[in-house]
Amino acid sequence: MQELETRAMFAGYHPSDGDGAVKPPIQPSSTFVFPDAQTGADMMAAAYGMPPDQPAKEGHIYSRISNPTIDVAEKRLAAWDDSESAAFFSTGMAAISTALLAWSSPDRPVWFCPPLYGGTDHFLRSILPSMGVTVRELSNLDALDATHEAYEEIPGIIYIETPANPTMQLHRILTASDWAKKHSTEEKPVLTFVDNTYLGPILQRPLELGADLLLYSATKYIGGHSDLVAGAVSGTNAVVDHVKEYRTFLGGMIDPWTAWMLSRSMETLHVRIDRHQENAQKIAAFLRNHPTIEILKTAWNEDLSVADQRIASEQMKGGGGMISMTVPGGRPAAFKVLNHLHLFKLAVSLGSTESLAQHPASMTHVAVPEDVKSAHGISEGLIRLSVGLENADDLIQDLDQALATLS
Ligand SMILES: Cc1ncc(COP(=O)(O)O)c(C=O)c1O
Repeated sequence: MQELETRAMFAGYHPSDGDGAVKPPIQPSSTFVFPDAQTGADMMAAAYGMPPDQPAKEGHIYSRISNPTIDVAEKRLAAWDDSESAAFFSTGMAAISTALLAWSSPDRPVWFCPPLYGGTDHFLRSILPSMGVTVRELSNLDALDATHEAYEEIPGIIYIETPANPTMQLHRILTASDWAKKHSTEEKPVLTFVDNTYLGPILQRPLELGADLLLYSATKYIGGHSDLVAGAVSGTNAVVDHVKEYRTFLGGMIDPWTAWMLSRSMETLHVRIDRHQENAQKIAAFLRNHPTIEILKTAWNEDLSVADQRIASEQMKGGGGMISMTVPGGRPAAFKVLNHLHLFKLAVSLGSTESLAQHPASMTHVAVPEDVKSAHGISEGLIRLSVGLENADDLIQDLDQALATLS
């Protein structure tokens, strides 16, 4: 069997499918011709989960359901994740909300561990409960048994993000997936959802640790160039197919142009991630010794507790390209540093070729309740850095001069 990078490079497309073209073509068609009316009727019935008159022919119907260019991107992501199936969405939030709606219900509660990306946190706290779904916040995964006993409840979904945005908190995936398997029945599976955006398929492979569904903001490392928004899920056919069914009706499908860009981006994912990490390690080494930094959070061993180092060695192949640093002086000091950065662009998002910096408390996590922010260290002095592919020494110099404005 070929290695991962090779399989992912060619997944989903062979030049014989496209007049010999080395690259897959873009197929923008919204609709696809049925060979005859009965075949069309059977294909539509199957797509809507109804029994067809005769076995339905495989094929594309309409680009909200599937499309050849989107298929290529989905096969490439499934190859990177070594999953049975992947599905792309118009944004990361479309992927997350659709997957949660598909697999939660009034008798399938969602248990989550904060911190989470602000949009996911808002969806879980404010939107899902309004649809009758019980959503519970666990302080961490050690609270699974106690929550089970206190509420005499088994969740439908355990939802984690690791490393978590923006504090870099780690959660042990095996703790969630083992507990979920122990409490699953055939009629009521307990599914472990892992937002794998921060590390991506190369550095963290939660499916191999028993997770059931990966969720991605593909806007980040998978896209990797700050020039598209997209989301994805990846997992077994059974779990992903149900999410795809909801995608068809909620309508958060990706468009073929963006899918094509993602197929291209995924060809360089491993090379980019290597450099993101290399740069982030150099910057972390500089910040670790910097007198102005109060707290430095990275997913590298030097900055992790002994317990977290154990989690990292079990489930991570590297610390990735994200760094969170806290400066003394709260919001005014953090804003001063941000306003003096030149190479780091003052912008939300992450995982792109250029370096980005932002203030989670007032930007990406502005809607997270204050008590949750303070319980999880999303403080006013916290600055989140997404390390890009520029020269590391230039980035260090940029940080050095911006931090010097505080002395
Ligand atoms: C960890 C994480 N998950 C999900 C999302 C949501 O993705 P999108 O902005 O593509 O909708 C983000 C966005 O920043 C994120 O950081």
